[in-house]
Amino acid sequence: MADLSRQALNIEDLRHMAKRRLTKALFDFCDKGSEDQIAMRDNRAALDRIKLRPRVLRNTSERHARSSILGKQHDLPILIGPTGPAGFVWYRGETELARAAAKANIPFTLASTSNTAMEKVYANGGGTQWFQLYVWRDPEAAFVTIQRALDAGFEALVVTVDSPVYNNREIDVRNGLVFPPKVTLQTAVDSLKHPRWLLGTAARYYMAEGKLPAFSNIHVPEEAKADATGYVSAKSKSFLNRDDTMDYDYLRRIRDMWPHKLLVKGILHPDDAVMVADAGADGIFVSNHAGNTNDTAVTPWDALPAIVEAAGDKLTIIADSGVRRGSDVLKALALGADAVAIGRATLYGVGAAGEAGAARAIEILESEILRTMAVLGVTDIPSIGREQILLPSELPVSGTGIS
Ligand SMILES: Cc1cc2nc3c(=O)[nH]c(=O)nc-3n(C[C@H](O)[C@H](O)[C@H](O)COP(=O)(O)O)c2cc1C
Repeated sequence: MADLSRQALNIEDLRHMAKRRLTKALFDFCDKGSEDQIAMRDNRAALDRIKLRPRVLRNTSERHARSSILGKQHDLPILIGPTGPAGFVWYRGETELARAAAKANIPFTLASTSNTAMEKVYANGGGTQWFQLYVWRDPEAAFVTIQRALDAGFEALVVTVDSPVYNNREIDVRNGLVFPPKVTLQTAVDSLKHPRWLLGTAARYYMAEGKLPAFSNIHVPEEAKADATGYVSAKSKSFLNRDDTMDYDYLRRIRDMWPHKLLVKGILHPDDAVMVADAGADGIFVSNHAGNTNDTAVTPWDALPAIVEAAGDKLTIIADSGVRRGSDVLKALALGADAVAIGRATLYGVGAAGEAGAARAIEILESEILRTMAVLGVTDIPSIGREQILLPSELPVSGTGIS
């Protein structure tokens, strides 16, 4: 079948392609944030407010975007961040994402809530792979998962700490979306309206396994199995309602157990950055989870400068939330990030066309990064710095750049 994603000129085009193919419930799960969508809007507004300061006549013909991420050479300053529903939007979508990342020589992060067994994704995906960990109601159970990720070969562990309770995603409740998925009249009608997803993804799982996929990378202790039936309200004691007891002692226990690179995801305060560095982390994701957790959280772009100042020399700093263009990536680097994680852009890609769609998303971002480097007058990533951007407070007349 022809790869439609080749026709996408930008990430928004891939988003539209994914929207047409996926059920409404699944697309909204990928596309929307929690509560009133404020953080999502703010993320974009914060990036849009930052202006680039082009320099000219610098012969940029030999430019490249190669970058060192956690001490390893990669071809771009980006990585694929963890997104739980990859395996729902495409058959074995996690492996498709991992393969696209491997071919582009950028890291891929497998989400805790993915469906394909981590050993299979690691073996079939190739390239640099990291594993993301959520800690559920029984914090001891997480150590079984960490050991599994270690045995499987993952190079880094990403511990997400910004969701001590499950997100207040009202849109999913309205759409009848629950995890693990349940067939209801509402979801059945939604599926029938999207035959490409129904036949290409859901039916393939039914044919291969007799059911839609479950979470295969979460260790649920025997005694919690009856109580691990879905995400629920913040007060629930269900196993799948995240753990709100996590603290620095717990992080240090993970540090003691995990011998490779350890990253903490969801940092927005400079003091937390310093404290996780002191607890032994190698890096952080400065992230508001793309507006999925706390709808009125500060944007990572507003938080980044103070965090870089406080802990930039102690930690690898990865930033994410709202990145849709190569110019956004360069703005993040200019603010002091070492690399940028991509969530929805590659998720739209895989939802639109599997590995080919994810590869198209990376290709679009790469071409925009290289194009923007030329207009900035830089030939390599280490040359990107604070002098290439103007923040709103530095513009002569607010927002226009005209004095
Ligand atoms: C649909 C969806 C699922 C996500 N699942 C996870 C997850 O399982 N674990 C996690 O740490 N972050 C998760 N994230 C957050 C991403 O890792 C990342 O922080 C965010 O998507 C980056 O913003 P962007 O999507 O605008 O690029 C998810 C994000 C989305 C959109």
